Amino acid sequence: MKRILFVCLGNICRSPVGEGIMLHLIKEHKLEGHLSVDSAATSDYHTGEPPDHRTVGNAKKNGVDISALKARQFKKEDFNLFDHIYVMDESNYKNVIKMASKQEQKAKVDYLLNIIQAGKNLAVPDPYYGTEKDFEEVFQLVLKACQKICEPYLAERQ
Ligand code: 4NP
Repeated sequence: MKRILFVCLGNICRSPVGEGIMLHLIKEHKLEGHLSVDSAATSDYHTGEPPDHRTVGNAKKNGVDISALKARQFKKEDFNLFDHIYVMDESNYKNVIKMASKQEQKAKVDYLLNIIQAGKNLAVPDPYYGTEKDFEEVFQLVLKACQKICEPYLAERQ
């Protein structure tokens, strides 16, 4: 079982999209025994809140219901609870790495988009001050990465 955690600044725009898409794909492809997922924020700005209404609306338009998710803050213990910690941008990366106390923990942290463009450290742009188009861009970028995460598990079965 691989345990995956998505991390962004507020856990209300980008990382809940990752969690919601993965939950959707896990269910669709019956990967419950292979993958588990959660999401978290580096900040405590929105702890306990559901995702931003624009994120919820955009995900719904794409067939993914994230309305029941609740924001929580990343904690040190997450380094032990997860195998892969995927961050959305450089600021998230620095904030998570700062909390790691061992190399083994640092090695679990990577940029989500390195899954589709290895080694480039590209950001999923923060849509918080953006428009509808920015929320859709987030969804499509995160979707591509999530599909790639699932690929080896789907190939294994054929
Ligand atoms: P997220 O987006 O990190 O993708 O959840 C943001 C959410 C909230 C804020 C900034 C970005 N904020 O400043 O409150």
